[in-house]
Amino acid sequence: MRLDKFLADMQLGSRKEVKSYIKKGLVQVNQVTVKQDKFQVKPETDEIFFDGEKIGYQQFFYYMLNKPAGVISATRDTQHKTVMDFLQKPDFRPDLFPVGRLDKDTEGFVLLSNDGNLAHRLLAPKKHVEKEYFAKVEGIVSQADVTAFAKGLLLDKGELALPGELTILKVDEENETSEISLIIHEGKFHQVKRMVQAVGKKVVYLRRDRIGSVRLDKALSLGEYRPLTDEELAVLSKS
Ligand code: URA
Repeated sequence: MRLDKFLADMQLGSRKEVKSYIKKGLVQVNQVTVKQDKFQVKPETDEIFFDGEKIGYQQFFYYMLNKPAGVISATRDTQHKTVMDFLQKPDFRPDLFPVGRLDKDTEGFVLLSNDGNLAHRLLAPKKHVEKEYFAKVEGIVSQADVTAFAKGLLLDKGELALPGELTILKVDEENETSEISLIIHEGKFHQVKRMVQAVGKKVVYLRRDRIGSVRLDKALSLGEYRPLTDEELAVLSKS
């Protein structure tokens, strides 16, 4: 890898800025000052110092964000806040993106990463990676609904939803509302809302609690994020 790319990847400045740092003699590779920006380095084994400080190399980054409602799952938007707007310096990198989308009004677990391969594995329809949601619903969810979800549902526009595991958490007979958890194995547009609609009820609150085997950290308030732990990353990679 070129030395200037290495330094820019590690967020030490734009490509132009790091080139000028290299020319000024601020960078050492294996104890030797290097002044050529295209000098080739091996990020895993070379010792690279910038202004006297050792620079470790990390190629991929993974963050768990607890997305609030009102926020778009995109890298940029001209009108609304996006999930990227929560990342603070030095965590923000222009190559990060949300792995999968939550609706604007949905809260909960969004994975932010720059690892395209992991994103592909988690999102590929054939992989059927589990996602778990908590929802508040207008209407009384019944055992018949649990059975219907377990069989798979015919959604609007003739689309078919694969079987989902519906659990009734609470039913308020008086106000005719319910709380449910739902595990699904695919990610169609508005999938949970449309599955609930298919049994004649309406989602009024939705939160994603789990992706694969990784649960949303309860210590994260809405809008907070943290890096995935090595253990979480290992289980997610196996999902
Ligand atoms: N299903 C939905 O309906 N909305 C989401 O945001 C996620 C799953």
